[in-house]
Amino acid sequence: MTAPLSGGNAPARAVDAYTAAQSAQDAAVGHQTRSFRVWRGADGNGAFHDYTTETNDGMVVLDAVHKIQAEQANDLAVRWNCKAGKCGSCSAEINGKPKLMCMTRLEELPADEPVTVEPMRAFPHVRDLVTDVSWNFRVKPRIKRFTPRKPDAPDGTWRIAQEDVDRVQEFRKCIECFLCQDVCHVIRDHHKHEEFIGPRFLVYAAALEMHPLDVEDRTTALKEDFGIGYCNITKCCTKVCPEHITITDNAIIPLKERVVDQHYDPLRALVRLVRGKKKS
Ligand code: SF4
Ligand code: SF4
Ligand code: FES
Repeated sequence: MTAPLSGGNAPARAVDAYTAAQSAQDAAVGHQTRSFRVWRGADGNGAFHDYTTETNDGMVVLDAVHKIQAEQANDLAVRWNCKAGKCGSCSAEINGKPKLMCMTRLEELPADEPVTVEPMRAFPHVRDLVTDVSWNFRVKPRIKRFTPRKPDAPDGTWRIAQEDVDRVQEFRKCIECFLCQDVCHVIRDHHKHEEFIGPRFLVYAAALEMHPLDVEDRTTALKEDFGIGYCNITKCCTKVCPEHITITDNAIIPLKERVVDQHYDPLRALVRLVRGKKKS
């Protein structure tokens, strides 16, 4: 007698076969159930809330946050715009590190532990993952604007060496995500918002100071008002910049050198003294 082709446990076998096939298909597309710890709360008060959701290869943290928002937490506040690493809106702290949510792939993060997502810490908390970054927009207008020298030619044009143009080009990549401001201990831990403009605006000042046409002198303001002396070259800002701007070596150190040249060089100090006496 031959064994029956189907029996009492046939549906269970069919389910097992389906589950195995589904698992194989899921593995092929990197389908996984992952855990997230998302900061929820308002005005600086809050706690981590735990969520699990289905993810696939290629998803970024912002995708997972949107999925949680759509399926489990409709009122979760998160700021974003471009989802392409260009608007600088989705800055957050992912597994404790300042990053753009839209440029952080889930497969870069350990799969065997929850992904933590928190708001930036250097700015006032508004709600959930959103902070108030408006302080940064008040800093920018304090820096003297671009002031070009007179044109080099009668037709109103200038002549500039390519290497001088290239030097400032790097600084123009800034997307104002403020991750560098968030990580800087002078702002984050010592709360020197009123005395120190932070790495983002030192980059901005460097772009102006090193511009081949600019004739304005911002060194006094850098020393007296913008707190460049607070920067102790830890390079944390450079490490978190999503645009890979070499903030410390290419912007801050040359600015510090200019401040020293202008204000601590005895010959220049003498010239300034003489000029000051002549004016008075
Ligand atoms: S290098 Fe200077 S500006 Fe950058 S994080 Fe360190 S202290 Fe702040
Ligand atoms: S310098 Fe880099 S980290 Fe800082 S605001 Fe600009 S893009 Fe963001
Ligand atoms: S959403 Fe624009 S940089 Fe992330």
